[in-house]
Amino acid sequence: MDVVRLHVAPWALLLCASCLDFSPDPPLPEAPRPPSPPQPQTGRGVRTFPPIVELTLPGRPPPRLSQTGLYSDIARKTLAPGVELFRPRYELWSDGAAKTRWVLLPPGAKIDTQRMDRWHFPVGIKLWKEFTKDGKRLETRMLWKRAEPSFHDPGWEMQTYVWDETESEAFLDQDGVVDARGTDHEVPRQIDCNRCHRVEFEAPLGFDAVQLSGDGPGLRLRDLVLRGVLTVPPPSADGYTIPGDATARAALGYLHANCGSCHAPDSDVFRDIDMSLRLEVGKLTTVTETPTYLTTVERRTTSIKAGAAGRIRIRRGNPLESEVYQRMGIRMVGPESLMMPPLASHTVDEEGRRQVADWIRTLP
Ligand code: HEC
Ligand code: HEC
Repeated sequence: MDVVRLHVAPWALLLCASCLDFSPDPPLPEAPRPPSPPQPQTGRGVRTFPPIVELTLPGRPPPRLSQTGLYSDIARKTLAPGVELFRPRYELWSDGAAKTRWVLLPPGAKIDTQRMDRWHFPVGIKLWKEFTKDGKRLETRMLWKRAEPSFHDPGWEMQTYVWDETESEAFLDQDGVVDARGTDHEVPRQIDCNRCHRVEFEAPLGFDAVQLSGDGPGLRLRDLVLRGVLTVPPPSADGYTIPGDATARAALGYLHANCGSCHAPDSDVFRDIDMSLRLEVGKLTTVTETPTYLTTVERRTTSIKAGAAGRIRIRRGNPLESEVYQRMGIRMVGPESLMMPPLASHTVDEEGRRQVADWIRTLP
């Protein structure tokens, strides 16, 4: 993919603006409107581009979950043929909600794994994630690669469907829902999806080489290898092993899943914050070789936010003096908040934070 070109695409500029906007209540996107009339053509047949706001609007996603291809019978929750369960080894904390994920690979399609750290997905692939809490189905999110990203079109459809009271159908929702179905679960707004799912790298986050390695329920990396779905297979069908003891692995995996979407070397966040919490398959020999270790341990913070400068990202042996640990414990929303991740959570992940603290304590 031509990353440089995509960075100047109009929708990419808007995506970046939304990535950096942590204000509690940014302006809502305009409601979906009917398809725009044909654009005027100049005498030479050169197309005049529609205004930017049109380009950022999703195409016309199906209004109901039953129309997305997940189920053949939504009332009985029968999955459609070809839809497969998967689970990333390390999960994103979602305030205690339980999550189930599925993928549909178009028949015969291959995943281009030339860059093992950034898979390039075939057009047509769909991934879903269902959230349940207090025994209730709340929302089912979908990532669908409609088209190859281009100057005009981000290509990826990112939408969520909110379940009705009878759980017989879920409906497209782009505005977000507070306290969905009487739980404390918050359904995000559609414009917030790409703050984590960045189309410049392809949207999926939990369907990667590190996350599908080894054992687990549903589809694994080895299944993809055996079926010949990956254009370049990994050296071992079992995939990749995170280095270190169990304590180190838990922390490195946690940070990869929960923070690596933004804190990655090829993310725009990295330009200001030269910290990577994303694991890379070629840098997994020892803990001290991981970007996570190299860019945090005894490294100074570079954030320009008030009160956030001049600290230490990870202080050996001392979680309380480590900005990574401290920020995981903040849940105050607002433009000056230092909470991490900066959205989509209202409750601290005590268990995940403890795993990170335990690892920091072991660092000599
Ligand atoms: C705070 C960051 C964040 C936000 C906001 C977010 N996601 Fe995700 N999402 C993730 C991460 C990280 C994963 C992978 C880990 C997991 O599933 O636990 C994921 C997984 C998924 C998956 C399963 C496929 C995959 O990528 O592994 C789907 C589908 C999905 N998200 C859709 C959405 C949609 C649609 C929205 C907006 C309505 C959204 N997400 C908002 C971070 C986010
Ligand atoms: C949605 C994108 C996003 C996610 C996900 C995210 N961060 Fe951040 N993070 C940022 C941005 C943007 C900044 C810079 C603004 C600021 O200082 O708050 C930042 C700054 C930081 C800093 C300050 C580093 C420095 O050098 O000043 C730390 C530490 C941090 N994040 C830790 C984390 C941790 C730990 C996680 C996961 C639990 C995480 N982040 C998840 C976007 C993200």
